Amino acid sequence: MPTRPTILVFDSGLGGLTVQREIAKARPDARCVYVADDAFFPYGQHSEEALIGRVVPLMGELIAAHRPDLVVIACNTASTIVLSDLRAAYGVPFVGTVPAIKPACAASLTKRVSVLGTSGTVKREYTQTLIREFGGGCIVTLVGSAHLASLAEGALSGGSGVTDADIFNEIAPCFVGDATGARTDTVVLACTHYPLLLAELTRLAPWPVTWIDPAPAIARRVVGLIGSHQPDALHGDAVLLYTSGKRHAWPETLAPFFGGQVAA
Ligand code: DGL
Repeated sequence: MPTRPTILVFDSGLGGLTVQREIAKARPDARCVYVADDAFFPYGQHSEEALIGRVVPLMGELIAAHRPDLVVIACNTASTIVLSDLRAAYGVPFVGTVPAIKPACAASLTKRVSVLGTSGTVKREYTQTLIREFGGGCIVTLVGSAHLASLAEGALSGGSGVTDADIFNEIAPCFVGDATGARTDTVVLACTHYPLLLAELTRLAPWPVTWIDPAPAIARRVVGLIGSHQPDALHGDAVLLYTSGKRHAWPETLAPFFGGQVAA
């Protein structure tokens, strides 16, 4: 592994920046190329076949163009369906982002866990298998949100038009109580866009819950594969690309996700 590795971080939009932020903290010396496939956003609305047909060849082009040492699929909707095809097609190591059902079920005291993801992610066999294997006796409620990723994109671009009621309608089904008085105490953020709204989710929740964001665990996995940085290493580079070809109107607002750098 080179001393200053190139890490390609990929999502349908800007949600993967919540993973990028943790990678930038863990490997500030890396060259990070962030790719938002905004031309195909939102992934949650596409069929499994359409996503495989889109992401596998696109990744081939991105690998050829950027020569990454590691690729992070910072998207649950894609990871739960395309990871095995990507690994079969390309030699570069891939780290995926899948619903953090195991730690959530291990942490829940009431044994009531909700998984908040895109409608694609909550339908996947991959997600069902995680619940079967790691549910640990919890009652798991799957909540497919049609609009929360778009609301998070809107909030990151200035927020006008994103109301509390819009957000609340998407998260309300996560909050389940039963006749015994047991209530949901843990919610898995199974879409990388959702931690962008963490302050709003916490404020609007009908009662306090633990929100599980997998990003720090993904950054630890990255470090496990490529090693940690030298304390005296120079800062890496940051590149932000959209498949639509657009340029971000205020790249400086995204600097916190790139360790304070304005991405080229
Ligand atoms: N950020 C993505 C995820 O983790 C998907 C949002 C979308 O494009 O629907 O699932």
